[in-house]
Amino acid sequence: MIVSNWKMNGTKSDIEHWVNKVSNKIDYKSHIKCIICPPSCYLDSTRQVISKIDSPIKLGSQEIDSTNSGALTGGINAQMLKDFSTEYVLIGHSEQRDHLNEDNITLRFKLDSAIQNGISAIFCIGEPAEVKLAGNTENFLSEQLEILTPDDLDFITIAYEPIWAIGTGLNADKKYIESIHQFIKTYLNKLNKEKNISVVYGGSVKLENCEDILSCNNVDGLLIGGASLDPDTFSKIYNIS
Ligand code: PGA
Repeated sequence: MIVSNWKMNGTKSDIEHWVNKVSNKIDYKSHIKCIICPPSCYLDSTRQVISKIDSPIKLGSQEIDSTNSGALTGGINAQMLKDFSTEYVLIGHSEQRDHLNEDNITLRFKLDSAIQNGISAIFCIGEPAEVKLAGNTENFLSEQLEILTPDDLDFITIAYEPIWAIGTGLNADKKYIESIHQFIKTYLNKLNKEKNISVVYGGSVKLENCEDILSCNNVDGLLIGGASLDPDTFSKIYNIS
């Protein structure tokens, strides 16, 4: 899958323009999903344009709450996402882990909420620079992965995003990406060896480095922030995949 994560960017018309343009420019392959995660307030308008032009682009949310209802100002639950035909949701993105103080318990509730409502989770994991420098990445990622159960594996994709590479222009090198993706796949294989879980890479992916990253062993797709906002760039990256 190739995912465009808009974060807190764009207007309604930027996103409509993006969906129209990308739908025209991509050489869509059914085995490579093309997903847009707009800001929540634009989920419905994005859904409408996708359906109006019968686009193959799928809708993903950047947010889901861990409970189904209640007094949570600003909350968005899985049922609301279903109302907008949302098929995917980002869970555990480092920006949310950080800003919203999300811990493993909260993230487990979010995963339950998505999976029970038939929404596929893109579960984001990744280490900060100091953990990498200390050579402790695998232990750190294991602690993030430990909330997963064998039953989740039909409903999730893992997004490996080293925090030090997100929005910084710094790239993990090929050898590093390959070894971490191999580690994640081996970890998941121990949970259920029947399932081949997709592991996508994110963190300063751009047109210039996407081919190199996609050629890494065990990289099954990309989660792209900044570079994905331009429909031409995103379409080119999709077409290279
Ligand atoms: P970036 O963001 O491509 O701008 O580094 C990726 C992400 O955070 O999903």
